Amino acid sequence: MKINLANIKKAKKLLIKNECVAIPTETVYGLAGNAYSNKACKKIFKLKKRPKNNPLIVHYFNLESLKKDCDINNDFLKLYRIFCPGPITFILDLKKSSKISKIVTNGKKTLAVRFPKHFIAKKLLKVLNFPLAAPSANLSSKVSAVSSSDVKEDFGKKIKYVLDGGKSFIGLESTIVDLRNKPKILRLGGLEISTIQKVLKKKVILNNQVSKISSPGQFKLHYSPGIPVRLNIKKLKSREAYLLIKKKRENKPNYFFLSKKGDLKEAAKNLYSTLRKIKKKNYKSIAVGKIPYKGLGKTINDRLIRASKFK
Ligand code: TXA
Ligand code: MG
Repeated sequence: MKINLANIKKAKKLLIKNECVAIPTETVYGLAGNAYSNKACKKIFKLKKRPKNNPLIVHYFNLESLKKDCDINNDFLKLYRIFCPGPITFILDLKKSSKISKIVTNGKKTLAVRFPKHFIAKKLLKVLNFPLAAPSANLSSKVSAVSSSDVKEDFGKKIKYVLDGGKSFIGLESTIVDLRNKPKILRLGGLEISTIQKVLKKKVILNNQVSKISSPGQFKLHYSPGIPVRLNIKKLKSREAYLLIKKKRENKPNYFFLSKKGDLKEAAKNLYSTLRKIKKKNYKSIAVGKIPYKGLGKTINDRLIRASKFK
């Protein structure tokens, strides 16, 4: 996919007018607005039907632009140099002089920041003189969007413009790491913890339990396809879809494979689009076969556990 400068211009024009625009990122699509504008940020919450106390991630083009809003530290710099732009979000202290809208943080003194890698998101951020607040472009508590058609499915004409950047190539949200004290993972994501640990050369605490909510991505039901999800299943119920990590020789119409050979990256990329596909085919529920708890499989399991809280 090539960059179409007319599309970037159109998105820029709308964003300057405090409208919201959906943008592609390598993880999932984001519902973007000017992070310095109360008006734009209020629109994001309203469109997503998102609780006001669930803060937004702010997307920056580079370090220089971030430094206006946040204090940075050594751990941040180490990770930034290796992984950015990429699927990692940092929790940092906000500077007193920051112009970030209070709506973004709900008055919190910290900010979640990220540098997206998708070339269209980068190009857009480069031509703007403000950062973009952008939560995942889906209705609150539902499955994230990994293509422009997913975004349109959730919002229809309510969003003024969707910038098309093809299918998100990671397909899972960014990994969130709180770097203000001892590094803590608040949300598993598209970047594996072990690689973060290797770069920091210290232990990283995993703090994403549903019981300890400090990042509302940990709210109970999340990533829900809108029908019940059952995990580690061998025996199906009637009118149930079967979601499997690896292609089986036995193939029935209700079997859905996340990857041909059980490749976890491929499975991650296909997870949300497959959940959406199953829902559209009117199955009553989704049974999920065992998914290995390693690498990106940890994030896939995390999302499916949360999706299974549907009642
Ligand atoms: O990959 C991603 O991170 C995507 C793309 C669009 O960048 N964005 C995304 O945003 O997943 P969202 O809003 O769906 O998830 C952001 C998570 C939420 O769980 C929110 O609670 C948490 O980040 N968060 C935001 N600000 C925070 C803060 N100051 N402290 C702790 N958690 C925060
Ligand atoms: Mg989300």
